[in-house]
Amino acid sequence: MRRYQLRIDGKSVPPQGEAWFESQNPYTGESWAEIPRGDTRDVDAAVQAAHAALTSGPWAELTATQRGALLRRLGDLIARDAAKLAATEVRDNGKLLAEMQGQLNYIPQWFHYYGGLADKVQGSTLPLDKKGYFAFTRHEPVGVVAAITPWNSPLMLLSWKVAPALAAGCTVVVKPSEFTSASTLEFAELFDEAGFPPGVFNVVTGFGPEVGTPLVEHPLVSKISFTGSDTTGRLINEKAGRHLKHTAMELGGKSPNIVFEDADIEQAVFGAISGIFAATGQTCIAGSRLLVQDSIHDAFVERLLAVARTARMGDPMDPHTQVGPVTTPPQYRKVLEYIDIARSEGATVVLGGEKGTAPECGKGWFVQPTIFTGVRNDMRIAQEEVFGPVLSVIRFKDEDDALRVANGVRFGLAAAVWTSDIGRAIRMSEKLQAGTVWVNTYRAVSFMAPFGGYKDSGLGRENGIDAIREYLQTKCVWINSGAVAANPFVMR
Ligand code: NAI
Ligand code: MG
Repeated sequence: MRRYQLRIDGKSVPPQGEAWFESQNPYTGESWAEIPRGDTRDVDAAVQAAHAALTSGPWAELTATQRGALLRRLGDLIARDAAKLAATEVRDNGKLLAEMQGQLNYIPQWFHYYGGLADKVQGSTLPLDKKGYFAFTRHEPVGVVAAITPWNSPLMLLSWKVAPALAAGCTVVVKPSEFTSASTLEFAELFDEAGFPPGVFNVVTGFGPEVGTPLVEHPLVSKISFTGSDTTGRLINEKAGRHLKHTAMELGGKSPNIVFEDADIEQAVFGAISGIFAATGQTCIAGSRLLVQDSIHDAFVERLLAVARTARMGDPMDPHTQVGPVTTPPQYRKVLEYIDIARSEGATVVLGGEKGTAPECGKGWFVQPTIFTGVRNDMRIAQEEVFGPVLSVIRFKDEDDALRVANGVRFGLAAAVWTSDIGRAIRMSEKLQAGTVWVNTYRAVSFMAPFGGYKDSGLGRENGIDAIREYLQTKCVWINSGAVAANPFVMR
C-alpha cells in the first residue's frame, strides 16, 4: 500500500498524531492507500503557513502577471501528468477512466484561463461628488482560503476553487474528502515544481470533525469555499456566520430534464441517460428528475429503456465500461435505501432496482442503472438528492405544469429543456429557477461559464470572469487634493 503524507509549507510531512487511515478502491473493495489522519495541530500549521505566505515572502511580492505565469505553468504540468492523476482518481473513486482522462485533460484550461485573468483585475477611479478629492478602488485578495471538496470529482472541483483563488493572490488550505484524498496529495507536489513559493497551497487530509471543523473555525481563515452536501454546507455556514467569514457553497441538486413533445427524441434520450447514468449519477448536476410530456411519455420511456438496458457495468479502468461502482460504502447503502423508499412510495421500477452482482462487477459497490416511472413530485424520490444512478420519470401536461414540477423542489442547481421551439426554450429558460439552464443538451460545463445554485443549491458562483471576485475584497482609497475642512465636527 502506498503511504501518503500531508503537504504543508511546501513540504511532505507526516501528521502530528502519527496516524493514517486506509482508502479503498470502490471496484475491488480493497484498501490501496494510507492517508494521513490530520488533526487541529496540522490544520494550524497549514493555516499559519498559508497566512505567512499571504502576508510576507515571495508570493506577496509577485506581480499579478508573475502569478499568472505560475498558474499557466501549473496547467502545463497537470496536462503532462494527466494520465497518472486520472488513474489515481479512478483507483480511489471508481469513476470511469474514460471520463477522468477527459476531465484531467480539461483541468489545465482552468489554470490557463485564470492565469490569463490574474493581471486583468483592475480597480476604478471614481467621479466623486465631492470637490478636492481623488478616489480609486483596489481589489485585494480576501485572505487565506479554506477549500473543502467532495469525493465525486476531486481535482476538477478543487481546480474550480484554486485557480481563481490563486489568480486573486490568495493562499489556500485544502481539505479533500476522506474517501478520495490521494489525487489531491499528488496534485500538491506539482505546485513546487511549477515554482509556487511554499505555503501558497497546502493540503490537510482527514475527517470532517477533526480537520474540517478546526479549518472552518481557524481565525486566520477568511473564506471557505465548499462543495458537498447541503447538510454539511449549512453547518459550515453557521460557523462561518459566527466568525464572520466569507463563504461560497455548491450544494447539489435535484435537477429537472424536461422533454417536450416537439423535442428531437434521440437526442433527448441521450441527454436523459448522460444526465443520470454518467458518473454513476454521482454528480451535483445529475438530471435525476426526467419530466416527459404526456403525449410522448410512453414512447419516450420505451426508447429510453432500450438504450439504458445496453449500459455496461464493469471495471472502471476498462474503456468499454459505461457505469462504474458507487464511490463509498455509505453512499452505496444510501442509494439502495432510496430505491426501497421509492418502491414503498408506489413508484414503479421499470429498470434495475438492485445491487449490481454480475461477474463483471467483481466485488465492487455497484447499483444497477435504475428507472422509476409513475413518480409524483411530492414523493421523496422526487424531492431528495440520491446522488446515484436512479432516475425518476414524472409526467407533465404543458409548459405551466412543467414549470410547476421543475421548480417545485428546494434545490436549483441546473435544468434542461428539450424542444425544437425557440420561443418555448426562451420562455422556459427565463422561468426555471436554476443557476444553469441547458437547451437541447445536458451536463456541459466550462471554465468560462458561471456555475452555481439558486435556492438551497448554494451561494456564490464558480467559473467565468466573475468568479475571481469571490476571492477579492474592495478597498476604496481617498486622497485629498486640496479640499479644506471648514468644520472638523461634521462629516466630509
Ligand atoms: P459531505 O458534505 O459531508 O462532505 C464534503 C466534504 O466536507 C468532505 O471533505 C468532508 O470531509 C467535509 N466535511 C464533513 N463534515 C464537515 C464539517 N463538520 N466541517 C467541515 N467539513 C466537513 O458529503 P458526503 O458525506 O461525502 O456525502 C453525502 C451526500 O452529499 C451525498 O450522498 C450527496 O447527496 C451529497 N454530495 C453532494 C456533492 C456535490 O457535488 N454537491 C458532492 C458529494 C456529496
Ligand atoms: Mg477511496
